[in-house]
Amino acid sequence: MNLNETKARDQWGSKIGFILAAAGSAVGLGNIWKFPYMAGTNGGGAFVLLYFGLLIIVGFTLMMAELTIGRHTQLSAVSAFKKIKSKWAWVGAIGVLAGFLILSFYSIIGGWVIRYLISALSGSFNTTDAASLGGIFEGFIMSPVQPLLYHAIFMALTLGIVLGGVKGGIEKYSKILMPGLFIMMIVIMIRSLTLPGAMEGVKFMLVPDFSKINGTVFLAALGQVFFSLSLGMGTMITYGSYLSKDENLVNSSFQIPLLDTAIALVAGLAVLPAVFAFGFDPAGGPGLLFVTLPAVFASMPLGSIFGIVFFLLVLFAALTSSISMLEVVVAYVVDEKGWDRKKASFVFGAIIFLVGIPSSLGLGVWSDFTLIKDLDILDSVSFIAENVLLPLGGMFLCIFIGWVWGLDKAFKEVTNDGKIKFGLMHVWGFLVKYIAPAAIFIVFVQGILALIRG
Ligand code: TRP
Repeated sequence: MNLNETKARDQWGSKIGFILAAAGSAVGLGNIWKFPYMAGTNGGGAFVLLYFGLLIIVGFTLMMAELTIGRHTQLSAVSAFKKIKSKWAWVGAIGVLAGFLILSFYSIIGGWVIRYLISALSGSFNTTDAASLGGIFEGFIMSPVQPLLYHAIFMALTLGIVLGGVKGGIEKYSKILMPGLFIMMIVIMIRSLTLPGAMEGVKFMLVPDFSKINGTVFLAALGQVFFSLSLGMGTMITYGSYLSKDENLVNSSFQIPLLDTAIALVAGLAVLPAVFAFGFDPAGGPGLLFVTLPAVFASMPLGSIFGIVFFLLVLFAALTSSISMLEVVVAYVVDEKGWDRKKASFVFGAIIFLVGIPSSLGLGVWSDFTLIKDLDILDSVSFIAENVLLPLGGMFLCIFIGWVWGLDKAFKEVTNDGKIKFGLMHVWGFLVKYIAPAAIFIVFVQGILALIRG
């Protein structure tokens, strides 16, 4: 396969293949692992409300923006900017850097999932006791070697799929497993919602306490929108570049965020009610999923089987996301530096693995070491990537479309030269050109000020 030539560029085998792969990139640990615990630490309903607001103003807008640029240029992130205006290539480069950093710790969490899958297979989810489940989790993540082994396995799996190429690798897996994950999550959600005391958690998640809203929570919600939808680093540019010219961009730009958000909400309603029912701490942080759901499995008939299937599906969801991140980095060196795809995948897979190691050690043996304020290494890398690089990448992308490339050209691409009716086209244009970049800027500055002051 030669990605350098536009004509020879791989395209999606089917429309549903693209939707599922792009949704596969979006749906991942961000929805299932991160959304519930971010809601938990950032005041529940207040966070969810801000998430929705930013999803509407920034999420949909940028999804369409990225897919549009990708399909127009048929190139990956950096090259796409270059083709339109070479001075702007650095925006794509911010994205590649973000992807590189995110994958480095994403793979560690992916490793945790593998570890929990193995626990599920060996039938060890048989307690609902908060203290002992918490102890198991801490003992695991703080140990120096074990998490790194799983981190290595996760990266190796990611690499294996990326080496399979676009169609063969990504599309095949998403088609079967995404719907499976969704069904599974709904079953778990129903179990959680019917636990005694679950309503407390539902209230916590859905009724906003406005006093909880501040600059920090705002920026956290913004980062979560970017992270969960795979925006701001050119993933969707790259995916859009494999999209054929008669595909309906408008529909895809709505369907992907809706599906992504539905899964995040279901995950939230699977985790948070159980948190309250079993007496876990909603602000417990990154371990929330891993301590809570084993308790849910322990309290359902055939729970151990559910546990196995659940962690297996989460692993696949994580992989369809991690491959999209490695894909961005690989596509960059293939398109820009003319590297061989195989070599690029191996070299960057290995480097990203190494870069991730300190994040894992920072949870245990290096936990005294903080990079930003009181944040450990993983949280610091995640802050830089999600709360700084992704929003800035997204903001500059909007400015680029609105002010450099020009809305008229964007409109032409979005509507397939006027063939597709898009009633909200001018609303989208207004959002891209003015509202979204301004909103990102304000939330970003507020959040950084809060960090400096707090
Ligand atoms: N969206 C994915 C998730 O929710 C993670 C992800 C994949 C991502 N590709 C990305 C995040 C690009 C930011 C940018 O798990």
